[in-house]
Amino acid sequence: MRIIKVKDYEEMSRKTANIISAQVILKPDCVLGLATGSTPIGTYKQLIEWYQKNDIDFCEVTTFNLDEYVGLSFDSNQSYHYYMNKMFFSQINVDMKNAHIPDGMNTNAAEECRRYDEKIRSCGGIDLQLLGIGLDGHIGFNEPGTSFELGTHCATLTESTIRANERFFEKAENVPKYAYTMGMKSIMQAKKILLIANGENKAQILREAFLGQITPQVPASILQLHSDVTLIVDEASGKFL
Ligand code: GLP
Repeated sequence: MRIIKVKDYEEMSRKTANIISAQVILKPDCVLGLATGSTPIGTYKQLIEWYQKNDIDFCEVTTFNLDEYVGLSFDSNQSYHYYMNKMFFSQINVDMKNAHIPDGMNTNAAEECRRYDEKIRSCGGIDLQLLGIGLDGHIGFNEPGTSFELGTHCATLTESTIRANERFFEKAENVPKYAYTMGMKSIMQAKKILLIANGENKAQILREAFLGQITPQVPASILQLHSDVTLIVDEASGKFL
């Protein structure tokens, strides 16, 4: 595992964008795994800036997002579809038929999860997977206790995740209780993994995930077994690493 410690959020975002950009330059038709949350926003901003300067071209890139809330439509402004369009897709030249996000409006969970895994497989798997980390060590919406053996599945969000995400919703009751998420098995199949974190509140969970025991209680800990993981952490979140 490579650990890159940087000064602050800006440097974390620039370095992450550099790695994604190198991936797209080396393999223009690569498959990128993308994440939501507040952590990757600066990375997307930086990539948009380079796209506008003609330094990066997404026209052949395929993307797969990690997760989507169940029951939120594409145009609901808390859905991850909305987030991705607003923060990234609408400002670059990715072909939208190659930008995949689980369909939270499909009420047939088994069918939706099977369809998503099959789509990832048929595109040749993920070349580079970008990840954030939840305060409880969740990746995507793989909450503590989730089997490492699962592919895309319907997850029940924990109280801690609902509380952490309620800042994006008007009321805590509006935070969906379920989400479709790639499983740790799908994530571990990515050829390269890039996990980013910033802020003091992530320091303890990074210590548990990357210096502690590998256990489903800390979903991110399985990444210790992946052969190509890079962590980019700012000074505050990386203080124990
Ligand atoms: C959400 C997402 C995760 C993300 C996590 C951390 O629960 N499903 O993919 O990594 O939040 O979010 P943030 O970057 O805002 O700390």
